[in-house]
Amino acid sequence: MNDVYILAFESSCDETSVSIIKNGREEIATIVLSQMDIHALYGGVVPEIASRMHIENITLVIEEALTKAHMTMHDIDAIAVTYGPGLIGSLLVGVQAAKTLAYIYEKPLIPVHHIAGHIYANNLVKPLEFPLIALVVSGGHTDLIYMKEDYSFERIGGTLDDAVGEAYDKVARVMGLTYPGGPIVDEYAHKGTDTYALPLPKDDSSYDFSFSGLKSAVINLIHNEEQRGNKIITENLATSFQNRVVEILTKKTMHAVKEYHVKNLIVAGGVSANKGLREKLEELCNQENVHLTVPAIRYCTDNAAMIGAAGYYAYLLGRRAGLDLNAKANDVLK
Ligand code: KG4
Ligand code: ZN
Repeated sequence: MNDVYILAFESSCDETSVSIIKNGREEIATIVLSQMDIHALYGGVVPEIASRMHIENITLVIEEALTKAHMTMHDIDAIAVTYGPGLIGSLLVGVQAAKTLAYIYEKPLIPVHHIAGHIYANNLVKPLEFPLIALVVSGGHTDLIYMKEDYSFERIGGTLDDAVGEAYDKVARVMGLTYPGGPIVDEYAHKGTDTYALPLPKDDSSYDFSFSGLKSAVINLIHNEEQRGNKIITENLATSFQNRVVEILTKKTMHAVKEYHVKNLIVAGGVSANKGLREKLEELCNQENVHLTVPAIRYCTDNAAMIGAAGYYAYLLGRRAGLDLNAKANDVLK
């Protein structure tokens, strides 16, 4: 089969990204323009600003990716784009850019679900081996997914309330740390001791998670200690919080790995950068003889390389969108 070069777009939140991926595995060029510094001023992503900045930057990012790859649109076989889920005003910019190029250059258009992208970020590290369990942990998702083969997604459980990244960001905010809170809490967690009594959330035999109770426990603890005039030891609170999160995530994930008789586990989404989670999963997978794949750090948070990797398999399966493709703020992975 001829080589397939995919031009991929990702603009679902606050990163404007374009990438060129060869055969779903080889990164030719990726540009990620992060708006994080601007949103940090507001303590979180401001959708209106995100959308406007995507509009300002998208053409520059496309040009830069093609220049870096020493390619033109004539070398591209297909165009993949995140159509959802995400911020609607942000998604629309990527979708419109992808549709425009698909129309002008008469290229097939491939719609990619954002979470399929996070999962296939692992394919850029090592080819996925099936069947597998994927633990998806991001700012918007916490899901356990069983994959029998390429592009087959069976959600076996997930969060009933907050996503784990969202809990990290909210806890960081009440601890007075800057946005995004995940990486900072992770840093502090490695310097402290588990001294605060926090609950282990939804500790049952299901594959579902709940993080709002743990988040509220941290907020209440901070308020109570403040009222008593006690100082919070940030490192210790970060360690206590992270230990509970890692314990429940790894417990349910390893349970799924055993019940579904898989020998491969992959982790996906922004929280897959978490050092505590990686260390614990490595330890447990070694014990159980399970292959663990985690994305390279630069592929953990949002980027178009992962969309190009997923888009290749969608392309092989004949998934196509017309020029009526619309962005979707919410959509089930299928
Ligand atoms: O996947 P992502 O870039 O965006 C979504 O699709 O949501 O994930 C962003 C989330 C944020 O909540 C951020 O705080 C979290 O990932 N995150 C982390 C770490 N790095 C990023 N959470 C915990 N530990 C980290 N090291
Ligand atoms: Zn994401």
